[in-house]
Amino acid sequence: MKTILAKATENDTEVLVKASEFIKNGGLVAFPTETVYGLGGNGLNADAVKNIFKAKGRPMDNPLILHISSLSQLEELVKEVTPCAKTLIDNFWPGPMTLIFRKTDIVPTETSGGLNTVAVRFPENIIARKFIEMCNLPIAAPSANTSGRPSPTKAEHVFEDMNGKIEMILDGGECEIGLESTVIDVTGENPVICRPGGITLEQVQKLFPLACYDRHLIEENSQDFKPISPGMKYKHYAPKGDLTVLDGDFSKIKEFMLKNPDAGFITFDQYRITNSEKEFSLGNINSPLDCSHRLFDILRECDSMKLTKIYSMRPPADGVGFALCNRLFKAAGGKIITLD
Ligand code: TXA
Ligand code: MG
Repeated sequence: MKTILAKATENDTEVLVKASEFIKNGGLVAFPTETVYGLGGNGLNADAVKNIFKAKGRPMDNPLILHISSLSQLEELVKEVTPCAKTLIDNFWPGPMTLIFRKTDIVPTETSGGLNTVAVRFPENIIARKFIEMCNLPIAAPSANTSGRPSPTKAEHVFEDMNGKIEMILDGGECEIGLESTVIDVTGENPVICRPGGITLEQVQKLFPLACYDRHLIEENSQDFKPISPGMKYKHYAPKGDLTVLDGDFSKIKEFMLKNPDAGFITFDQYRITNSEKEFSLGNINSPLDCSHRLFDILRECDSMKLTKIYSMRPPADGVGFALCNRLFKAAGGKIITLD
């Protein structure tokens, strides 16, 4: 299959119409959102959804998110909008937040990975919204990477993984946030965060003081608990090289790095160590959003330089930094060395 790569703007109706026609005919189109690029298909068409799993090489038990462009689209997909869901919608949609509802029968079990719930997101990105609006369908879209690889934050990342496997890629430039949405279970009285992201626990707790993380995200022996989001149990976001997180004293980290000049190093603007092209700064250590935005791009850059060993300094874990640490630790398969 030839994959069309097309620059897209909100006003370029011709490109968006073409993309929406592919979707209406059961095809797949990758599109930008403010978090990461999504790999979209008709979320109500079981065959289109199966093709999404195939293109990504994704386990079938890991459900997809349905993307909508207006609140009226939500009604037919979910059994109930709980008071908890309503408050979060009023505060954070459109935006980088995905909510888990009890699903109606219209949502195929392929989309929900066999669960009786469905994840829904109303993205803010204007190209995403125009595209979904033109399709006039809920768009099932996981991140547009091969399963296990870093999520795509640029159209060229999508092209690397999906060329020849999907009909079209809409290039809307770099994603603003660069980490996937916060996934929140709203089937109960209080929100439970199943995947951390751009909307933080602190923000949610301002509305619901009893909001919490899924146990799986915070407990030491989290393998003992089944995560609410099936995706959280898989290894993820990993570069091809072997990534390890470094913690501890900066002078020791510096010493370690200078002794391993062949490895890739991920640091911060305030803690740069060398001028080597193998050292990548995530950005300002005091701005987790800035750092989050660059993580996946750096991991892919390490791959294109064929770095077989990569070390990263550990980012602070407050606010959006919690999501950044979650992605980095998953990418490292949990490997951490403390130097002190
Ligand atoms: O920012 C994002 O969320 C991006 C953009 C494209 O919207 N999408 C994305 O999708 O990251 P994906 O498929 O890579 O991640 C979806 C996550 C997975 O961890 C999955 O297990 C979880 O959401 N999820 C989906 N449906 C669920 C459900 N019914 N219950 C619990 N978790 C669910
Ligand atoms: Mg993903």
